[in-house]
Amino acid sequence: MRIAVTGSTGLVGESVVSYFRSAGCQVTRFVRPGKGMSLAVDGDVIAWDPVSKKMDASLLEGYDAVIHLAGANIAQQRWTLSYKKLILSSRVEGTQFLSEVISNLENPPRVLLSASAIGYYGYITPPTCVDESSNMGIGFLAEVCEQWEKASQSAQREGIRVVRTRFGVVLSRKGGALAKMLPVFRLGLGGKLGSGRQMISWIALEEIPRIMEHLIHKEDISGPVNVVTPNPVSNEGFTKVLAGCLNRKAILPVPSFMIRWLLGEMGQALLLDGAAVLPKRLMESGYVFRFPDLESALGE
Ligand SMILES: NC(=O)c1ccc[n+]([C@@H]2O[C@H](COP(=O)([O-])OP(=O)(O)OC[C@H]3O[C@@H](n4cnc5c(N)ncnc54)[C@H](OP(=O)(O)O)[C@@H]3O)[C@@H](O)[C@H]2O)c1
Repeated sequence: MRIAVTGSTGLVGESVVSYFRSAGCQVTRFVRPGKGMSLAVDGDVIAWDPVSKKMDASLLEGYDAVIHLAGANIAQQRWTLSYKKLILSSRVEGTQFLSEVISNLENPPRVLLSASAIGYYGYITPPTCVDESSNMGIGFLAEVCEQWEKASQSAQREGIRVVRTRFGVVLSRKGGALAKMLPVFRLGLGGKLGSGRQMISWIALEEIPRIMEHLIHKEDISGPVNVVTPNPVSNEGFTKVLAGCLNRKAILPVPSFMIRWLLGEMGQALLLDGAAVLPKRLMESGYVFRFPDLESALGE
């Protein structure tokens, strides 16, 4: 199988590339300018510039699947107006460009797996749960996700199967939210954030390539798919399990006002808001989770 991956140097991208290569697939990375590669192409990379919308489209002929993960990191810095613009434009413009390119191929991929996020649902008050049939929520991330998802419509119109993978919080010791928390918890300085009632819908990094493989082979699936486990937890529950796995106490709560003061809108959206999101479509399609509960995921 031939697979091309954008955003391949990111947390999810690295894991996807290494999984599919180990499975014997031919995996090609999309490489942006200024990332240590020239615009010259060797066997395993395709140069693209999603900002100036340049790439040699012919190099994408004949792939089985394109996995599109690229976008400016949402937790890298405070959400200034200009960074919010980058979060949005790097997703919407890159997705539009990629979709148009593959729509015009003679041999387009059979499937485009295009990243989105459970931020689509906005803040959901517990104990309400949402699934793929639920409406879009309110807030910056919901708006980003909506536009990000619409940006792949041109590929869909051309008859390409488009799956919009709405990722939950990706858990890995290598990066992302968990890697930032671990040093604090190891020092015994962890604690719930705000009320601790906000829900965390999560997925183990190691689970993601397996889910992608499942989605590539399930030819009847298209549209949004929540990439989360069936067991969302409250922030307080998460804190207890993580502290327990590390044999530490987590008794130092961080008040909401401090998070808002330190991190602004980003802190509110990423740490204090949350939603219990269920993977209805994955479960209906017969996917069996390898890391269904937090203990199994954190134990990895
Ligand atoms: N990690 C999570 O918890 C989580 C949760 C929900 C949704 N997601 C979404 O899933 C996707 C993959 O997540 P991730 O954790 O792997 O993200 P990541 O580590 O931030 O990687 C994203 C990749 O996108 C590319 N990129 C960075 N800035 C860019 C820009 N300005 N314009 C275009 N491309 C840019 C880079 O790859 P190259 O340099 O190789 O191009 C980068 O490695 C992202 O779109 C993310 O928003 C992630």
